Amino acid sequence: MSSESVINLERRDDGVAIITLTNGKVNPLSTAVLDGLHSIANELAADLPGAIIVTGGERIFAAGADISEFGGPEEGAAITRKFHDALGALSALPRMVIAEVAGYALGGGCELAMACDYRIASTKAVFGQPEILLGIIPGGGGTQRLPRIVGASRAKEISLSGRQVAADEALRIGLADEVVEHEALRDRTLELASSLAKGALVAQGLTKEAIDRGLSMSLEEGLAVERHVFTEVFRSEDSQIGVKSFLENGPGKAEFVGR
Ligand code: COA
Repeated sequence: MSSESVINLERRDDGVAIITLTNGKVNPLSTAVLDGLHSIANELAADLPGAIIVTGGERIFAAGADISEFGGPEEGAAITRKFHDALGALSALPRMVIAEVAGYALGGGCELAMACDYRIASTKAVFGQPEILLGIIPGGGGTQRLPRIVGASRAKEISLSGRQVAADEALRIGLADEVVEHEALRDRTLELASSLAKGALVAQGLTKEAIDRGLSMSLEEGLAVERHVFTEVFRSEDSQIGVKSFLENGPGKAEFVGR
């Protein structure tokens, strides 16, 4: 199956790119979907949009890895590598990547949402890492990203039980950053993404880089990263525009050019 029929990229005039999983009714993250996602992430890296939305189906964001592709350790090694490479390429994009989760985000679906920078969920969304119910474990980043988001003890309870986490609980524990009415979901993700796409994009990318790199470092090392990117940001045209605009017209009036 070509990746085009299982995943789609739309580039909008407002600078927002929308990646939609279109792999049938339950949207399993098959190797074809992961290959497609990886090549879309590479394509976006080469020609950056202003912000990115990742979404799936109305009822099922993504049902996880494609269980029909599982076999023994050899297949396992190939699948976890593909997940890490594709989700790593997506999360490394120097722009805000927003997961728009309308329904079930289970297993690899939850891991894909967690590889995004921010999760906006509908009241009908359901998260979870149900791999344990198949006798296996999360292999798309779940053992690492879930504890970083919700804390180690809650991540263990969710992953070792395999239970489902409804939208209201996801919001409470930080797995979802916002929950909105199902019908309002697209409007809200587009509102946030298109407003970010008009922002100081170089500074956004450097802020994201400093936060993400700092999370795996000591405070001292993270502060060294901040010193470096704070220096770098002054090379951007937007920093000149933003500072001049503030001094002349006050806060929040700058019109950035994204360079
Ligand atoms: N990979 C491959 N096929 C999957 C799948 C997955 N991750 N998830 C569901 N399917 C298949 C089912 O086997 C079923 O196939 P069939 O129609 O040939 O019987 C079909 O998709 C529909 O699934 P079903 O469970 O009947 O749909 P539902 O609407 O009742 O429930 C889910 C949807 C997503 C809640 C449920 O399918 C589910 O929990 N899926 C497994 C999630 C999971 O364990 N993910 C981790 C994988 S490691």
